[in-house]
Amino acid sequence: MIKAAAAAALFCIAPAMAYAASNWPELTTPESDYVEHCSGCHGMQGDSYPAEIPVLRDRIGYFMCIQEGREYLIRLPNVAYSPIPDNQQLADMMNFVVFGLGGTSVPKGAKPFTAAEVGKLRTRALATESLIDARAEIVGKLVGRCAVPKSMNDFYDGQGQAAR
Ligand code: HEC
Repeated sequence: MIKAAAAAALFCIAPAMAYAASNWPELTTPESDYVEHCSGCHGMQGDSYPAEIPVLRDRIGYFMCIQEGREYLIRLPNVAYSPIPDNQQLADMMNFVVFGLGGTSVPKGAKPFTAAEVGKLRTRALATESLIDARAEIVGKLVGRCAVPKSMNDFYDGQGQAAR
C-alpha cells in the first residue's frame, strides 16, 4: 500500500519537475544574488506583504530622491554586511533592487550605484542606530521634498499594494 502510494506520488511529481526545469527562467547574477540573500524576507518580486518587512516593489526607488536616502539603501546592515564581497557585484544587485523592483518609484535621472560608492558606504553601516528611527527621519524628508506618497511612512500601503 505504502509503496503504491509512494509510486503514485512520484508519478505525479516527476512530470511537474520536468516542467519546472524546462521553464525555469535564466536569472542574471544580480537577480540570483537577490533571490539567494534577500527574497526569503522581501519576497521574490519584492513584495513581502503582509509580513512586517518593507515592500520593495514599486516603492524602494523613492529613497533615491535624496542623497541620504540613497546612502541608507547601502548602509542597511543586511546590505552593507552582505556576504557578497565584491563591491561591483553588490552594486549590480542593488541596481536590480532599485531600478528593477523599484519600477516607477525611481525618480527621473537617478544614477545607478557604482562599485566605489558602494565600497565607501559599506564601511558606514547603520550598525548602532535604530533602523526604525533612521528610516522615519529619511522618509520625513522624502515626503517633504519629493513626490513621495505618505504611505511610505509605513512598510506598505493600506492594501499591501504598491504606493501611489
Ligand atoms: C531576515 C530578513 C531580511 C533579509 C534576509 C533582508 N532584509 Fe531587508 N529588511 C528587513 C527588515 C525587517 C527591514 C526593515 C528595517 C528597518 O526597520 O528599516 C528591511 C529593510 C530593507 C530595506 C529598506 C526598505 C525601507 O522601506 O526602508 C531595503 C532596501 C532592504 N531591506 C533590502 C534588502 C536586501 C537588498 C537584502 C538582501 C541583501 C535584504 N534586504 C535582506 C528584513 C530583511
